[in-house]
Amino acid sequence: MKQIQILIVDMGSQYTLVIGRTLRELGYRSAILSPGKAESWLKSNKPSAIILSGGSASVYEENSPQPPKNIFKMNVPILGVCYGMQWIAHTIGGEVISHHERKEYGEAVAQFDTKDPLFYGIKKKNVVWASHGDSVEKVPAGFKVVARSEDGKVIEAMSNPAKKIWGVQFHPEVTHTKEGKKIIINFIDRIAKCEKDWQPADMIDDIRNEIAKATQNKKAIIGFSGGVDSTTLSAAIAPVFQKNILAICIDTGGLRRNEIEEIKLNAKAAGVKLKIVKAAKRFQKAIGKQTHSELKRRNFKKIYGRIFEEEAKRFKADLIVQGSLATDLIESGSAGKADLIKSHHNVGLNLNVKELHPFRNLFKYEVRELARQLKLPESISERQPFPGPGLFIRVIGEPPTKDKLDIVRWADGEVTDILKRNKVFQDVSQLIVALDCQRTVGIKGDGRVYAYSIIVRGVKTLDFMTAEGYQFPANVRREISNTVTKHPKIVRVFFDETNKPPATTEME
Ligand code: XMP
Repeated sequence: MKQIQILIVDMGSQYTLVIGRTLRELGYRSAILSPGKAESWLKSNKPSAIILSGGSASVYEENSPQPPKNIFKMNVPILGVCYGMQWIAHTIGGEVISHHERKEYGEAVAQFDTKDPLFYGIKKKNVVWASHGDSVEKVPAGFKVVARSEDGKVIEAMSNPAKKIWGVQFHPEVTHTKEGKKIIINFIDRIAKCEKDWQPADMIDDIRNEIAKATQNKKAIIGFSGGVDSTTLSAAIAPVFQKNILAICIDTGGLRRNEIEEIKLNAKAAGVKLKIVKAAKRFQKAIGKQTHSELKRRNFKKIYGRIFEEEAKRFKADLIVQGSLATDLIESGSAGKADLIKSHHNVGLNLNVKELHPFRNLFKYEVRELARQLKLPESISERQPFPGPGLFIRVIGEPPTKDKLDIVRWADGEVTDILKRNKVFQDVSQLIVALDCQRTVGIKGDGRVYAYSIIVRGVKTLDFMTAEGYQFPANVRREISNTVTKHPKIVRVFFDETNKPPATTEME
């Protein structure tokens, strides 16, 4: 493979890996490195473009991320995104401030100078997606302001073509920035003149090569939830391992209606032998009286890891393979310096058996593409995600006891059936049905009841880093509330249409 042309310096943003994914989508490979690693990488590599990602720090904080300072001397086009732009401004003579009127969280409208090569071919007025407390108040000498927020208060972009340096305050890599991809293409192609060097077909070869290198005659178990990630990974690596791989599905007690049957079918399609480990009681005991989402996840993770170690021993496996994605690592705080949002159950298990995460740089959307290439059925390539801790994190406010898991399992099954019957299930990227244990008053028959509510949430998203809350049609909402409230312990149904951010996809 040719030398990597694009260096992304990770300054700790939730979206750093999204920049890498967007570049692959556009046909380019890139290296994502922490500032320290970037510094040593640059000693033996000369990229054609450098992107400084966003990050949650302020340039005024002690220990704020500092990309290699010599990047300004390399005569390589540089694009700073959000914190990346603030760092450039702060470092070479501009001014960065924190002002309540300049903060932006979510969608904003910006006015662009489309004569600037970075904004060539985009609309003069355009929707962008931003998330920042600090902003650039004064651009450094030699720079021009080339985009401002609609009200003129925020400098949304600065440019110094002579020095080949650009900065954008918003996030062009986030899908909610309407013409973000065009801006990235302008930087990579028009300004930095990089050549396309990435095709999705390369992914399968890359993964098989990595596995072949790591495995040679070794035995492995693979965590198998039947979801698109573990099923696709199984199908991709089964030919490398042949008989030396066993897929392990843990029945945690938090699975949905009929899910085990679907998991069996998916293992068959992936060509791996499946073992189902029944462990509902162990998980129930471990999660016990917990109501705190992170503690539930932590206890879940402990048992989950232990079962894998036991199964690895039984199968005499040298390796445990998992389908964790870049997003799992980002949200678990294992990529760069991103803040911990949720500790995913399959990340950082620290097992006593070597772990492999061949999908660690990929996004859901890329795994779906891989599934299509591997000719897996649509029911797999387009399958909605479901969290590992399952229904345990869909019982909110009280401990997820078996009876409550049964209620939410039933409600989820009913809502899913209604959405499928009305042909809207496929309109959402994920359906979330949760049991809210906060009791409210209702009437059943002629009597007063004081019981639970169901929350129904649909989201639309490409990569789950940001998401739009979905509005189900009125007739569907009515059918859902009529059906679900038939349960004696459910008196109300709430529909949650909040975007991510500020909400997350799951309730917990
Ligand atoms: P959030 O709620 O973080 O969810 O916006 C993004 C995606 O991740 C899934 N999710 C999890 N998956 N273990 C998982 O395997 C977890 O602990 C977990 N928490 C959230 C969520 O369902 C969505 O698809």
